[in-house]
Amino acid sequence: MKVLIVKSDVEGGKEGYKVFADEKKNGAKVFGLATGSTPVTTYKEIVASDLDFSNDTSVNLDEYVGMSGDNEQSYRYFMQSHLFDFKPFKESFLPNGLAENPDEEVKRYDKVIDEHPIDLQILGIGRNGHIGFNEPGTSRDVTTHKVPLTQSTIDANARFFEREEDVPKFAYSMGLASIMKSKHIILEAFGAEKADAVKGMIEGPDTVDLPASILQNHPNVTVIIDEAAASKLE
Ligand code: F6R
Repeated sequence: MKVLIVKSDVEGGKEGYKVFADEKKNGAKVFGLATGSTPVTTYKEIVASDLDFSNDTSVNLDEYVGMSGDNEQSYRYFMQSHLFDFKPFKESFLPNGLAENPDEEVKRYDKVIDEHPIDLQILGIGRNGHIGFNEPGTSRDVTTHKVPLTQSTIDANARFFEREEDVPKFAYSMGLASIMKSKHIILEAFGAEKADAVKGMIEGPDTVDLPASILQNHPNVTVIIDEAAASKLE
């Protein structure tokens, strides 16, 4: 793992952007993307740049089950408003939250990933070390799967919905096996609340209890973290 420690998430965004720009120069055509607060500064740098993705493909990590892409809480909506509206890709894949048959949807998404092998995947990390929606204990052999959301995620999302029954209870997520197939992975983490997860990922045992520790086995990972997220490293 190459570990880059930066002063802030803004500086981290600049470093993240450089990795995208370098990989594009090297011929990367398929970009694995994440949502959440972490990649926002990298997307801002990309939006402000002259990088052109109109001949490229994006494949996102995850999406809520039962949610349409025009719902403001959906990951499709997040990607539109942070990146795609400014930097359109030739094609952008996300799991379809409204798919009628979940078994077929996960197979469809695995086929998307097989047909568009990811050159560069950007990841954030959860406080418990999750990547995508692969929570502690998730098998490392799984590809795309339907995941029950933890109660804390459901509770955190509840404020965005008028009715309790509208809060998503499941998500589709790329599995750890899907993520590990990416040729290059950038993992970004900013803030002290990520320090334990970052320490476990880099220095801790390689264990299913901290899903991101699987990245110790990947040959090409760039970790971009701020000083607060790096504060527990030896
Ligand atoms: C997002 C995703 C999640 C987040 C993680 C960190 O597509 O798959 O694993 O990367 O929960 O979230 P933030 O960046 O909001 O701290």
